[in-house]
Amino acid sequence: GCGKKSDAEEKTSEQTLIDVGFSQLGAESDWRIANTESIRNSLSNENGFNLTFDDAQQKQDKQFIAMRKFIQQEKDCIVLAPVMEDGWDTVLQEAKDAGIPVIVVDRRVNVQDTRLVTAWVGSDFRKEASIACEWLKSYTESNGIKPEELFIVDIQGTLGATAQIERSDGLKNACEKYGWNLLEQVPADYTQAKAKEVVSNLLNKYKDMNVVYCENDNEAIGAIEAIEESGRKVGSNISAGEIMIISFDATHSGLKMVMEGKIALDVECNPLQGEEVALLVKKVQNSDEFHRYTYVKERAFSMDQTVKTVKLRDGDYEITTLTEDIIADR
Ligand code: AHR
Repeated sequence: GCGKKSDAEEKTSEQTLIDVGFSQLGAESDWRIANTESIRNSLSNENGFNLTFDDAQQKQDKQFIAMRKFIQQEKDCIVLAPVMEDGWDTVLQEAKDAGIPVIVVDRRVNVQDTRLVTAWVGSDFRKEASIACEWLKSYTESNGIKPEELFIVDIQGTLGATAQIERSDGLKNACEKYGWNLLEQVPADYTQAKAKEVVSNLLNKYKDMNVVYCENDNEAIGAIEAIEESGRKVGSNISAGEIMIISFDATHSGLKMVMEGKIALDVECNPLQGEEVALLVKKVQNSDEFHRYTYVKERAFSMDQTVKTVKLRDGDYEITTLTEDIIADR
């Protein structure tokens, strides 16, 4: 009949679901929460998946434990959002030996044998940094601000994470190339609380600091709080004594700060990787062809109209003027 399914029927319908273990590095930022939600929504029962989720609280050891649990449970596939790049060779070899494909999302892993990673989907953090730095170059040039008048601090992400390495490097290289003063690079673990503390200290240390390059939006919000509490103003008008904030992610709260003129430029890091991940898992399961590396699409937002495009290595890149619709959408 059409009543309750028999045990045998229950079993077959369960078996048709693809068993996936997802080791998420943490819940440190708004971006991360959106990323988790995207992957969870796409790897749902309705879409044919049976997902086991693990939050590692920004600790690599906890990710190792989760991965080994997934291997023991003989998952069909493992999705890994790694907290840092190094140290994955052993556990990934264990997954490979067990015949379990691993799809890495967001940040990358740095492994000897690149075949330990079945596929990767995430962001081009190097490009994000270039957009930010080229924008700052054009903006200052257009406003008659000399390179030696820029005094920049870098509020870094979690040390060793791809997003941190490439955003920090991008800024450092630009400072050397363009002659900007890089006062200090300080980690704040991508969190609002840590960034607020770090920026308060930097404000006391460097009276001439006029650009705060925050490696994500939660850090930017912490930085803004610290600056405003110290009596200084955030904004793009460096010559009038305002402190300029540059940020990454373009989350809902970050973009609100752009709208208010408190973040001068917010370079998007797109957390919506779920659909792509679901497609990849299915292709891998069916032994269909798939791309090993997929970059998600990303924009950059500013309210200031001074700079409409920036020159990147691969051509002109357009800066998007923020609208209410874009904010409402995320
Ligand atoms: O790896 C992506 C970064 O991690 C995002 O920019 C940040 O918000 C997150 O915590």
